[in-house]
Amino acid sequence: MTTVGSLMGMGQNDLAAFDKAILITGGYGGIGAEAARLLHATHPDALIIVAGRNANKAQAFAASCPPNVAGAKLDLASLPDVGRFALEYNVLVSTGVVPPLSALICNAGTQAGPGEMRVSEDGFEETFAVNHLAHMHLTLALLPSFANRARLIVVSSGTHDPNTMEGRFNKPILRNASVLANPLDPQTRNTNAIVRYSTSKLCNLLFAYEFARRAHDLAPNKVIDVLTYDPGGVPGSDLMRNINPLTKRILTAPWLMRLLRVTTRTPKDAGRYLAALLTQDVDHEPAYWQGPNRSRSSKTSLDPEHARALWDGSETLIQKALRLKDQDGSKNFLDP
Ligand SMILES: NC(=O)c1ccc[n+]([C@@H]2O[C@H](COP(=O)([O-])OP(=O)(O)OC[C@H]3O[C@@H](n4cnc5c(N)ncnc54)[C@H](OP(=O)(O)O)[C@@H]3O)[C@@H](O)[C@H]2O)c1
Repeated sequence: MTTVGSLMGMGQNDLAAFDKAILITGGYGGIGAEAARLLHATHPDALIIVAGRNANKAQAFAASCPPNVAGAKLDLASLPDVGRFALEYNVLVSTGVVPPLSALICNAGTQAGPGEMRVSEDGFEETFAVNHLAHMHLTLALLPSFANRARLIVVSSGTHDPNTMEGRFNKPILRNASVLANPLDPQTRNTNAIVRYSTSKLCNLLFAYEFARRAHDLAPNKVIDVLTYDPGGVPGSDLMRNINPLTKRILTAPWLMRLLRVTTRTPKDAGRYLAALLTQDVDHEPAYWQGPNRSRSSKTSLDPEHARALWDGSETLIQKALRLKDQDGSKNFLDP
C-alpha cells in the first residue's frame, strides 16, 4: 500500500516550507484537476494535495504542476484505505512533517453506466460508498488534522434537486442508509444508476449540513466553515465515462441543455468556481453555490431529520466495514 508520505514526492524539508495544506479528492481529473491547477497558482503558500485512487496518475499530475502540488493515493472505494490515509496524515501533522489542512475539498465522484451495479471493496453499492460514505469517513477521520480555522467543501450536483431540470428526470430516492448501501437489496437493485447518483449527491448535502450543525461538538477548538457546490452540467469531464459515447453526446447536446435550461460549464470554469470557494465569504450556513452564484439547495437536503438519520445509518455502516476488515480482512458487508 502506498502511503501519503512516500507519495508526496517531496522531502521533509520541502514539506516543512508550507504552513497550510489543501486536500482535494479526485484532484487529477475533470473539475478537480482544473481547481487544483488554479489553487497552486492562487495559494502558492499552501501545499496542494491531489488525492486519487491511481497513484501513478496522482504523481504524474503533481509532477506536471509547480512544486507546491503533491500527489497521494486514496481509494475511496475502500473505507479501510480511507481510514489508513487519514491516520497517516494525522500522524504526519502531529509530528510537524506536513501542515494542517486549511481546506478539505470532497470532489471525487463516480456514476455507474445504465444497468450497471458496481460494488465497492467493502461490499457497498459503489456510488453511495464512494460519493458519500467515503467522504464522510475521510472528513471525520481527518478532523485532528484540520487547522484551527478551516473549510470543508463538498461537491454535490443539481441532480439532487427534483425541482430543477437536472433533477426532474432522475429524482433522488432517499432511503435508509443500509438500503442505499446494499447492492443486493431489491429496492437498490431496481433503482437506475443515475437515480443512485442523484441520491448520493443529495446525501453529500445532507452530510455537509449535518456536519456544519455538529462541527462545534466534533472539533470544539476549531472553526470549520462548510460550503457546498453544484458545478452545473459539465459534459467535458469524465463523469459519464460509463455511458456509451453516442448516448452521452445526445444527453449533453447543447440544444437539449438549452431547451431544458440546464447551465453547462467547461471543466475549466467549473474548476475555477470550485477553487473560488476557498476564499468566498461565508456569511451564514448552509452555503450552497451553483457555479459562481449563491443559491439554495432542495428542501429535502435541508431537512435535519433526514440528515440525522443518514448520519447515524452511515456511521453504523462505516464502523461495520472497518470492524469486518479488522476481524477478517477477506470479509465484507455482503458476506453472511
Ligand atoms: N460532470 C458533471 O456534469 C457534474 C455535474 C454535477 C456535479 N458533478 C460532480 O463533480 C465532481 C467531479 O466530477 P467530474 O465531473 O470532474 O468527473 P471526473 O472527470 O470523472 O472526475 C472524478 C474524479 O473522481 C475520481 N474518483 C472516482 N472514483 C474514485 C475512487 N474510488 N477513489 C478516488 N477517486 C475516485 C476520479 O478518478 P479516476 O479518474 O481514477 O476514476 C476523478 O479524478 C463529482 O463529485 C461529481 O459528482 C459533476
